[in-house]
Amino acid sequence: MPSSSATRNPFTAVETPAVGVVLENLCKDFGTLKVLKNVSFSVDPGEIFVLMGPSGSGKSVMLKQIVGLEPPTSGRVLIDGRDATDPATREHVRMALVFQSGALFNSLSVFDNLALYPREHRIASEADIRTKVMHALQIISLQDTAQKYPAELSGGMKKRVAIARALVMEPQLMLYDEPTSELDPVTSAAISEIIATLKEEYHVTTIVVSHDRDLAFNIADRIGLLLGGELIFNGSPAELRASQDPRITDFLNPKIDLKNPRFKKLAS
Ligand SMILES: Nc1ncnc2c1ncn2[C@@H]1O[C@H](COP(=O)(O)OP(=O)(O)OP(=O)(O)O)[C@@H](O)[C@H]1O
Ligand SMILES: [Mg+2]
Repeated sequence: MPSSSATRNPFTAVETPAVGVVLENLCKDFGTLKVLKNVSFSVDPGEIFVLMGPSGSGKSVMLKQIVGLEPPTSGRVLIDGRDATDPATREHVRMALVFQSGALFNSLSVFDNLALYPREHRIASEADIRTKVMHALQIISLQDTAQKYPAELSGGMKKRVAIARALVMEPQLMLYDEPTSELDPVTSAAISEIIATLKEEYHVTTIVVSHDRDLAFNIADRIGLLLGGELIFNGSPAELRASQDPRITDFLNPKIDLKNPRFKKLAS
């Protein structure tokens, strides 16, 4: 087990200081559309922070801000104390984003998808890349798929391969966008377990964006709830469960009103 303040590289076992993330008064507009409204929170080194919120509330936009893919309108994101939009930050902190779609290359085998980043960046010999890729596949229990193509995999397998591909970047910070969407509860639980294991074994600082209540309550150290671009809650899973704020209870336990004319129409 790594010490609580260090991330252990899954391939070399070398420990580096775990990194924290701080968002300060982050605002993001697209033209007149205000997507993120003064959002502030911090993620401690080695912690799992799950950001929940309804569709369109700005979760994916927030992840892009955190990894520095898009500049904020105002405010800032600090990763290990450095501005996320500064290219030097990416050299200082290894981070990997697992996209909502998985974003695997369909024309490449699973092995080649995982090998792409280290090959392009020439960060290891072909033999070392092979060892690393097979180890990453072993961590997610998909060694047998190395020669398969994404089209031959189930949705759950693709999500796991996308996680393995991120892992090959030896991240100190992992970000996941909806890692369990479109998956059945058993497969979702398996993905949650992988995310939790990466945190426990390697102490990777983790930010997960998800609607999945089970995932959030099972693996989060802390949960944030984004509503209409504002962070209306930031606390432990127990605090979220205990909240009496109607905006939160409505989000966690949405009521279906069968008397709503929309449903009447469907039923007739
Ligand atoms: N590049 C962009 N240009 C203009 N508007 C954008 C852009 N990216 C996102 N938006 C808008 O920002 C809002 C939030 O989008 P975002 O993708 O962050 O939602 P989300 O919370 O991730 O939703 P979901 O749960 O459906 O993935 C939406 O209204 C979306 O149309
Ligand atoms: Mg999204």
